[in-house]
Amino acid sequence: METIKNYIEENKDRFLEELFDLIRIPSVSAKEENKEDMLKAAEYLKNSLMEAGADKATIYSTEGHPVLVGEKIIDKSLPTVLVYGHYDVQPAEPYDLWNTDPYEPVIRDDKIWARGADDDKGQFFMHVKAFEYMVRTGNLPCNVKFMIEGEEEIGSASLAKFCDGHKDLLKADVILVSDTTMIAPDIPSITTGLRGLAYMQVELTGPNRDLHSGLYGGAVANPCNILCKMIASLTNEKNQVTIPGFYDDVLISSDVERAEMAKRPYDEKQYKKSIDVDALMGEESYSTHERLGIRPSLDVNGIWGGYTDKGAKTILPAKAYAKISMRLVPNQDSLKIAKLFEEHFKSIAPAGVKVKVEYLHGGQAYVSPIDSAEYIAASKAMEEAFGKKPIPVRSGGSIPIISTFEKTLGIKSILIGFGLDEDAIHSPNENYPLFNFFKGIETIPLFYKYYTLSS
Ligand code: BES
Ligand code: MN
Ligand code: MN
Repeated sequence: METIKNYIEENKDRFLEELFDLIRIPSVSAKEENKEDMLKAAEYLKNSLMEAGADKATIYSTEGHPVLVGEKIIDKSLPTVLVYGHYDVQPAEPYDLWNTDPYEPVIRDDKIWARGADDDKGQFFMHVKAFEYMVRTGNLPCNVKFMIEGEEEIGSASLAKFCDGHKDLLKADVILVSDTTMIAPDIPSITTGLRGLAYMQVELTGPNRDLHSGLYGGAVANPCNILCKMIASLTNEKNQVTIPGFYDDVLISSDVERAEMAKRPYDEKQYKKSIDVDALMGEESYSTHERLGIRPSLDVNGIWGGYTDKGAKTILPAKAYAKISMRLVPNQDSLKIAKLFEEHFKSIAPAGVKVKVEYLHGGQAYVSPIDSAEYIAASKAMEEAFGKKPIPVRSGGSIPIISTFEKTLGIKSILIGFGLDEDAIHSPNENYPLFNFFKGIETIPLFYKYYTLSS
């Protein structure tokens, strides 16, 4: 019987070439100009799934970008694993900070460098190749479905609707996802929680036009000045969020849970060094990983207004804007938090400016237990592939559709990500180590084996 290790060894160059062809399609969901690339990526994947051995693969068009669903049903009495991933990527800008073309993958220092190398093309493509191995070598122990979407990076609105309308098509026992990170190549971990999100945009309007700052400055409210003050007041000296009611629904972790979390290996010096900061900052009385995993946060993602070009222009701007996101934890509701934000933000605006608040997107947090059949199977699979038992960790990141899956389809997800925090996802020079890519392919069939055995 051909082992997965042999299969990878014999096919690794082809695996990489196929992944590279997918990466070369600039499937940026946020950009209108890439609309056709989204369909191209979906078609490419449809072909990949069929070549790998799927019975069928169908591209569903939506109001936004297409959703690809494929399946191989070998025996209706066996369990069904539904693999979820996203073929859309974040914009690559700023291009001048990339060492090589973001859409022309290269291998350097045993890593793949390109937009989407990790998030999520590199990660879900491991599942396509593991599936190919299982089908072609007669090692597929259960039924498989694939659902790969093109709007994860912009909020998964179309997929949420799609799930609601296709419950039968998507029937499965568990959803398997590789779109998160693990602690280190030699410290495997399984993600047991994701934060939710409420993403807001605010607009402040002052006078009816940019004014001469000599003729008006000091006598008229300046939206840029005001916006800075308002934003500054959203957190206090303890780095707590000051929006009334913000923490009301936060699920408080027990001391036992917190003690368990504190056991996770963490080198603060290394953490600071990896991002070139000399100190960390966060909510008082919580550790770094608590701040990321079990506590909500508020961040300005961008702020603009007035004159930002070269040189000096003396104006009092008419408008100021900011994009502000809040990462949420279990029990906090994204829409409720958005409403609290809007009410509070409007209430703190002084007379002389008008405020507009818009909710761009968001979703709920997610948690999963460590005693479920899927967690135990994933843990065994990782332990066998990495030679070490994985550690459960709560991630600070968000994949809002995961809680929608639970709510709409009634299916829990198991998050076995093989990325690393330092892979620079969403940043220039995104990369994915070859070790992680191939280890992932090696681990996945073991998950299928242990999961099927246990059910
Ligand atoms: N794959 C990431 C989320 C992630 C990365 C979770 C690493 C845990 C560890 C996903 O593609 C992503 O970027 N999500 C967005 C949310 C989305 C609604 C824009 C995020 O977390 O900012
Ligand atoms: Mn992702
Ligand atoms: Mn992402």
